Amino acid sequence: MFGYEDLEGGNTSCYRPPKVPVSVKVLVCVGVVGCLASIGDYLNSVPSDKGPSPSCTFSKAAVAADSRKCSEIGRDILQKGGSAVDAAIAALLCTSIINPQCMGIGGGVIFTVMDRSGKVKIITSRETVPRKGNSDLLKSCPKTTEWTMEWPQDSRWIGVPGEIRGYEAAHRLYGKLPWADLFQPTIKLAREGFPIPYYQGQHIPRIGNTSLRELYLDKNGNLLKTGDTVKFEKLADTLETIANEGPDVFYNGTIAKNLISDIQKAGGTLTLEDLASYEANVTDAWNISLGEYKLYFPPPPSGGAILSFILNIMKGYKMNSEPKTNDEKILFYHRYIEALKFANGLKKHILDPKFRPDKMAKNLTEDSFADNKRSLINSDKTHDPQYYGINSYLDSIGTTHVSVVAADGSAVSVTSSINDEFGSNVLSPSTGIILNNQLTDFCGRTNSTSPGERPPSNMSPSVLKSPSKTLVIGGSGSEMIPPAVASAVMNHLWFGKSLEEAIDTPVIFVDYQSEVKLESKLEKDIVDGLEAKGHKVAKFYNTVNAVEKADSCISAWSDERKKGEAAGY
Ligand SMILES: *[C@@H]1O[C@H](CO)[C@@H](O)[C@H](O)[C@H]1NC(C)=O
Ligand SMILES: *[C@@H]1O[C@H](CO)[C@@H](O)[C@H](O)[C@H]1NC(C)=O
Ligand SMILES: *[C@@H]1O[C@H](CO)[C@@H](O)[C@H](O)[C@H]1NC(C)=O
Ligand SMILES: *[C@@H]1O[C@H](CO)[C@@H](O)[C@H](O)[C@H]1NC(C)=O
Ligand SMILES: *[C@@H]1O[C@H](CO)[C@@H](O)[C@H](O)[C@H]1NC(C)=O
Ligand SMILES: *[C@@H]1O[C@H](CO)[C@@H](O)[C@H](O)[C@H]1NC(C)=O
Repeated sequence: MFGYEDLEGGNTSCYRPPKVPVSVKVLVCVGVVGCLASIGDYLNSVPSDKGPSPSCTFSKAAVAADSRKCSEIGRDILQKGGSAVDAAIAALLCTSIINPQCMGIGGGVIFTVMDRSGKVKIITSRETVPRKGNSDLLKSCPKTTEWTMEWPQDSRWIGVPGEIRGYEAAHRLYGKLPWADLFQPTIKLAREGFPIPYYQGQHIPRIGNTSLRELYLDKNGNLLKTGDTVKFEKLADTLETIANEGPDVFYNGTIAKNLISDIQKAGGTLTLEDLASYEANVTDAWNISLGEYKLYFPPPPSGGAILSFILNIMKGYKMNSEPKTNDEKILFYHRYIEALKFANGLKKHILDPKFRPDKMAKNLTEDSFADNKRSLINSDKTHDPQYYGINSYLDSIGTTHVSVVAADGSAVSVTSSINDEFGSNVLSPSTGIILNNQLTDFCGRTNSTSPGERPPSNMSPSVLKSPSKTLVIGGSGSEMIPPAVASAVMNHLWFGKSLEEAIDTPVIFVDYQSEVKLESKLEKDIVDGLEAKGHKVAKFYNTVNAVEKADSCISAWSDERKKGEAAGY
């Protein structure tokens, strides 16, 4: 088991910590598009330095994924004439084997896509509740978000996977290269094998006595570790079938039959009908104004409205430079924390609009609404959780984010997840697919679910567009996504920090119990000042990456904390 200390040297995504004195909840990776400066070791080790300063690293296009390998696969697709969506899909498929604990084709995805004319569309293919759901399922929700042995990672929590239908919808609208081309690099890598990268290696010892172990056993029955060669041969066959026969084979063909049979054997309730009737949802983006920028983000059930609310509150303080003195810093963080507390209290409005239309969700994005909440923020003190309308909810851990800017200026911000680390921990032996446990995201948000309903999410894949710049940003890490993305945006756009500095800035979030979590590198005087205002404070670690395009200058920074790496040209 890891403790807090183990995480100090490099946090891992999809990580739910055991009970430790300091609550390390999640890891955030905010991937902003562009081009990453740092090229560290390839695949199997954690790079130790970040390389040169990131300005104008690339001149045309770039992909920022969680790993150098997947960023490069995305970049290669761009260089072959692929669109930003093509590159994003190829990078996601790659991530499904480089970080299989985070995401994969057994999960779901939300795309924000800006075409070259600046029009933005959302494709939501998050998992849905199966028809034969267990109506008592949510009674088994954990009572706390502390990790315990009873953590809900089993077949009961599997939602109908939407990942491939999402890729299909995105590719149909924006794809340039043939569908099969997007799969080839990952099929090859999965079949030939590769050294287990650091982060994947960290998760292997944590796999319980489940079918998933089979993936990582050597011929003597020992678990593989970081640096050992791993192959994903069954998954390679599955990807090849989907590449050649098209997405329907996953939803209404041989893959569907095998997958459902495996899920049912593992005790899950999904049926062929669930898969056959699955549909991605293509909608318009929601937007808010931030100075000369428009921020585009997905509507509920994504967490974009929460992100927009936080930024709308903060923009009212009209800060155009970084707080300098300790008092200024304490006041800034205090207001930010208060905004996050209100944001948590408003998460109850983030629900699947098809099943639970909630008019308030749109209000969250309005200036007048933020003005009203801001007027309830006192500069000298904090309040009880009830003041903010906070009730307990459960947030999950997994997820990956990929950002892409193509040479024509089109952009993709996409977040994908199987929820907790290795999702439900159910591996479909005949297809090599790891299934999600996304239904746990209903915990604390509703007491019942409807077939076809999508669970609420914190995912906020976003695109910021000004007359001269495009900033593609998003993150992984559940409850930390909106706060971490908001922090990077404020520090970069308002305080004039470079992306590197903006991302390096200590991140703060507020957990479901109204406890403030902050990074240990925040100065002690600031922490003391916040405690003096009544905040309950604890420490954690997180990560953020970002990239930006201004004409032919593409600059980017990947978080030292997560060590993600981009590629471009
Ligand atoms: C793991 O599960 C298998 C099959 O369910 C069982 O036979 C075995 O005893 C279990 N091992 C441990 C260590 O619990
Ligand atoms: C599934 O495939 C069958 C046979 O190919 C076809 O008749 C049916 O309409 C398909 N169902 C859906 C929902 O696409
Ligand atoms: C922004 O959202 C509003 C609705 O809130 C919509 O009317 C408008 O067209 C959107 N703007 C853009 C540029 O998409
Ligand atoms: C698609 O998304 C829109 C906007 O969020 C929502 O109103 C609609 O109900 C969704 N449709 C489906 C089929 O989920
Ligand atoms: C939410 O927005 C609607 C429409 O703009 C408005 O009528 C209503 O008063 C708003 N509610 C709150 C609580 O702000
Ligand atoms: C769920 O039910 C409990 C107990 O009946 C209630 O206290 C809670 O408010 C309900 N939660 C939601 C989100 O409806």
